[in-house]
Amino acid sequence: MTMRFALDVPNDVSKDTLNVKIKQKINGMIDDLINSLPAPAQLTADERRGIIARYSAVLEGNFIYWMTAALLAVKSEDARPILLDNLHEEVRDAHPDMLRRFTIAAHAFPTDADALAVNDELTRVRLFLGRLSGVQSVLTMAFFEGFIQRFMDYLASLAAAQGSTEMEYTDVHGVCDIAHTDGLFKALAAEMGINPLEDGKELYEGVYLLRNLIKRIVFNRVEAQAA
Ligand SMILES: [Fe+2]
Repeated sequence: MTMRFALDVPNDVSKDTLNVKIKQKINGMIDDLINSLPAPAQLTADERRGIIARYSAVLEGNFIYWMTAALLAVKSEDARPILLDNLHEEVRDAHPDMLRRFTIAAHAFPTDADALAVNDELTRVRLFLGRLSGVQSVLTMAFFEGFIQRFMDYLASLAAAQGSTEMEYTDVHGVCDIAHTDGLFKALAAEMGINPLEDGKELYEGVYLLRNLIKRIVFNRVEAQAA
């Protein structure tokens, strides 16, 4: 079968190899983001509060919405239960409530200025996911899950520096859950098999938009636009 993805891999590459290459690229992007985080001790209290507030402004109201968008986008029957499982846990354990408690305890509940600081990048991700492109949407959520898990130690250290001890959100999300992350890559492989991305489309389009949003959360500076 001819590969229908605009990637720099030969046409005869196996699906497994392709999946490994995609996973490596996603993990590399996450590594770069994590390595670029400013040391909490070098930030002012206001800068620390801002990162928590912008993170919360994006995550609380959008994570479940975006996972739902990915669920609506996929055509593969094998991908659906993986996304549903994820949503089930989010709703059953009230993860938005957990995040809100974390944010309030760190005295970082988002203001209108915090919400508006991320507005442009957030809107781009929303409109992108609204196109309901199965493969691209699942890959975007795999990147999101992977990033969140790696970001938790840092987020917890920001909150601790703000005097908080409420860490249920970061404890729950920072657990290295191989099965969870692998699940989304399995969903990606299943979706690629039956609903491949059209020729000429950028596989990482949503990932790049989400990466810009994450950079805005962390840095809130114009250079976040550069990538
Ligand atoms: Fe969650």
